[in-house]
Amino acid sequence: MCGIIGYVGPRPSQDILISGLARLEYRGYDSAGIAVIDGEGGLGTRKRAGKLQVLRDDLAAHPLADGTTGIGHTRWATHGGPTDANAHPHLADDDKLAVIHNGIIENFAELKSELVAEGYTFRSETDTEVAAVLLGREYQASGDLVEAFRATVSRLEGAFTLLALHRDQPGLVVGARRNSPLVIGLGDGENFLGSDVAAFVEHTRHALAIGQDEIVAITPQEVTVTDFSGDAVDVEPFEVVWDAAAADKGGWSSFMAKEVSEEPEAVANTIRGRVHDGLVQIPELDGLDELFTGIDRVIVIACGTAAYAGMVGKYALEQWARVPVDVELAHEFRYRDPVIGPRTLVVSISQSGETMDTLMAVKYAREAGAKTLSICNTQGATIPRESDAIVYTHAGPEVAVASTKAFVAQITALYLLALHVGRVRGALTDEAIAEQVAQLEAVPEKIARVLAGEQEHIEQFAHWMADTRSVIFLGRHVGYPIALEGALKLKEISYIHAEGFAAGELKHGPIALIEPGQPVFVMVPSPTSSPLLHAKVVSNIQEIRARGARIIAVAEEGDAAVLPFADEVLRIPLAEPLFEPLLAVVPLHIFAMGLATAKGLDVDQPRNLAKSVTVE
Ligand code: AGP
Repeated sequence: MCGIIGYVGPRPSQDILISGLARLEYRGYDSAGIAVIDGEGGLGTRKRAGKLQVLRDDLAAHPLADGTTGIGHTRWATHGGPTDANAHPHLADDDKLAVIHNGIIENFAELKSELVAEGYTFRSETDTEVAAVLLGREYQASGDLVEAFRATVSRLEGAFTLLALHRDQPGLVVGARRNSPLVIGLGDGENFLGSDVAAFVEHTRHALAIGQDEIVAITPQEVTVTDFSGDAVDVEPFEVVWDAAAADKGGWSSFMAKEVSEEPEAVANTIRGRVHDGLVQIPELDGLDELFTGIDRVIVIACGTAAYAGMVGKYALEQWARVPVDVELAHEFRYRDPVIGPRTLVVSISQSGETMDTLMAVKYAREAGAKTLSICNTQGATIPRESDAIVYTHAGPEVAVASTKAFVAQITALYLLALHVGRVRGALTDEAIAEQVAQLEAVPEKIARVLAGEQEHIEQFAHWMADTRSVIFLGRHVGYPIALEGALKLKEISYIHAEGFAAGELKHGPIALIEPGQPVFVMVPSPTSSPLLHAKVVSNIQEIRARGARIIAVAEEGDAAVLPFADEVLRIPLAEPLFEPLLAVVPLHIFAMGLATAKGLDVDQPRNLAKSVTVE
């Protein structure tokens, strides 16, 4: 969750550090700080609990001497509460060394005992300060920051991205990463480090991804990457495909509102470049057919909203690729001793590509011999680098903690993958693929119609429902994961209890929850393409209506069967069953945002949550 930035170059670094941290705010944090080697060769640091503005105000009131070498950090508290003392950077080596960290050092307690026994003292409760003191001790032994890093990281267990600078080595920032994100920004006579590209995208879009267990040293003219044993390693360059403006709100009331409005293009951009003459051709999968021909099952692993995308994708993978698919929560998967091996393809889905639960499950799957494929929205992220293959979603930067456009992009990527696998396994004819591709290519315009036609209506009744205390979501078949997603969205940004159920489950217990006025959203299957399921869901609606429920039906344009029983009907364009989820979820995203806004809540940074959960 923490945000990290490093800078070396000709320019004063403070503004670069603070604006970089501002672009990382979405990661969720509760304190912030910077360290700068000033023009006089001194090392200045300032850190404050609270939001970035608290640090800004403090620096305005008590200026810090500026300099051209600096590091900055936003912290999401793990070891030790959000206090000034626990904020990063942490100092060592007689306050000549400053260190910032993202992750968790699992063996910090034993290292701290070792250092205390040697007479070192500590000023915070954090695991990071232990790493800083250890690094300071190693620097005193070698006088070289890179060598000190090498000696230090060999003692650390757990997940870490560490950045450090030393007063005696101006013009140098050194970083190391294990199981935590770090990318390099390549400027002209200046270089950057960041926990993701948002830290430096306003300055450069030329980037390098750093691999597992690697150390990077940046100076204004040079970038050197070595592994933990000191050998040089090749790093993969990439271009950041979105610009700083894309990471700004662009005039929208919130990042979430902006990102919901971008759902059509998130689908369109994820398709773009992957369909030729009506057939799917995913460049990232060229030459990797054996990933799909030699398997007899697929396990999709993810967390939260990404897991619900996986549940939708399961229907397409089984229907088009004719391969059995299980969807599992990543944090459950590796602790159940799963039966997997070389004939298993494990597909991970992660917007951030840094979710520790998912990353550790991917590593577990690889160690068990399974093949791995990552569906990810963040270039240079850790999970794709740990996978045998990657299919990127092209949703653009998703800043709001609540995932929206990435969700529809993930389903789109899964559908493209399912069509690709269906062709590779000979389960689909070109004609069948072309039919589904045509349906998929029609989705962006259909989502745009939902946004244009229903946004105002939904925001209106969301306002009326501001005092509601619980909401139920029902769906069948591919509508069931959408019910789960709608409930999650509402919970995480409006703090109202919400629950998604499979509609068929109602009579097996949940119908006991229904009392007069209970709001229930119902995903209604198409009467034309799913008449049997449509009839069953309409009878579910009648059952709960008879008990006083307040029905909000998400139904196809022209479906009159729901009218006698629904208090509100949210219309979606006609679509084949597998494509309905991409449309039905949009009103639920709008509703969650409308209700949270009506309650005066921060839809972008809801309480207790972070955009990327980089700790287990
Ligand atoms: C979704 O709105 C939540 N923010 C959360 O459930 C999220 O989907 C989950 O933490 C997975 O994140 P990832 O896609 O970055 O791995």
